[in-house]
Amino acid sequence: MVIFTNMKLIGPFKQIVTLNNLPLRGKISDEELEIIENGGILLNDKNKIEIVAPFQDFLNGNLLSHEDIAHLQIEKVEGKKIAFPAFVDCHTHICFGGSRANDFAMRNSGKTYLEIAEAGGGIWSSVKHTRIASESELLETLLERINMLLQLGITTIEIKSGYGLNLESELKMLRVIKNAKEKTKATLVPTCLSAHLKPKDFEGSSEGYLNYVLEQILPKVKEEGLSDRVDIFIEKSAFKPEESKAFLLKAKEMGFELTVHADQFTPGSSRIAVEMGALSADHLEATSEEDIDFLAQSETVAVALPGASLGLGESFAPARHILDKGGVLAIASDWNPGSAPMGNLITQASILATYQKLSTAEVLAGLTFRAAKALNIEDRGVLKRNMKADFVVFETDNYQNLLYHQGSLRASEVYIDGEKVTL
Ligand code: NIG
Ligand code: FE
Repeated sequence: MVIFTNMKLIGPFKQIVTLNNLPLRGKISDEELEIIENGGILLNDKNKIEIVAPFQDFLNGNLLSHEDIAHLQIEKVEGKKIAFPAFVDCHTHICFGGSRANDFAMRNSGKTYLEIAEAGGGIWSSVKHTRIASESELLETLLERINMLLQLGITTIEIKSGYGLNLESELKMLRVIKNAKEKTKATLVPTCLSAHLKPKDFEGSSEGYLNYVLEQILPKVKEEGLSDRVDIFIEKSAFKPEESKAFLLKAKEMGFELTVHADQFTPGSSRIAVEMGALSADHLEATSEEDIDFLAQSETVAVALPGASLGLGESFAPARHILDKGGVLAIASDWNPGSAPMGNLITQASILATYQKLSTAEVLAGLTFRAAKALNIEDRGVLKRNMKADFVVFETDNYQNLLYHQGSLRASEVYIDGEKVTL
């Protein structure tokens, strides 16, 4: 028996998909899903989850004392509704200026990377637009995108810098993300991606630029408390393995957590992510058998970004293989103006499931507690005792409809800390 004042019971939900008792690593079958029929979610006086159980059990004295029941605040749920833990998008670039619609059209018309860059497109175009945008312009569009993610039921959002690529503009991006935290109930996790690309106007080598990031940018990021995380794009067109390794080592020594854009077009860099103890290795579209073996046995979360595969017309990360080998697989949107302009993580995850043969349980795990693991956050992604009461509700009668409708089923309510958010 628990005795609390100010307890709130929300329900009944036709089904609550708790994701409780699922493994952190490897494959999961749908039979392993805990689904509570006609369930309720009881919140304690700190708005954390206290108990998730059949609704009737709260009212018939099985779980609560009569005194508790008498004081219970009940938020009644009408109609057929299904609750899931709110989703976590552990990889986005949603703070940016400008648009790259022309890149997209050119790419689809068969133009090459070089032709697009010559026409003024590519990452550099986003850098130019982000540099000239004011903080308030960036904040406004960032908040719009955060709101779009909230409407999908995503309440924890990682957001990278990386379109500033000099001290002033990288700090501007990270300050905008920090300011956005004051204006949304979503949890925002900022990451410094100053090592996205050597900017065209930097005079010196790529190694020289990485040293500039280490010496000029990261100390300021620390000093202002703008981010605890550092990312780098390791790729032929961006930073080479050896210089990236040295960079990651130093960033780690400075106290940053690490994540890597790895194996997007060429294999090998997820190995560096693992060796450096990165929290996650993201992309993996071009990863190799040996890379998968190494990654799947490590603590580093493998993050599939189906939105980038869909945006570029590239193959999907070998999610099935990673799970079969026992890896921790998360799924994120990579929402950015270039390679992944869609932003609908549920659509993307559903399509990934079809092509990679993922169970619903594996997709849900990848969108929740496994994605939280990639951010080193442990208090969410599962609906159980002491967890943050972030959950998303859909008006439907079967949890499978979420992926079946491939993202077109709209969330009817999103709760953060046990309170409904206005969408
Ligand atoms: O994650 N791969 C590198 N960076 C981004 C693309 C950014 C862009 O095209 O603007 C990505 O796909
Ligand atoms: Fe990315």
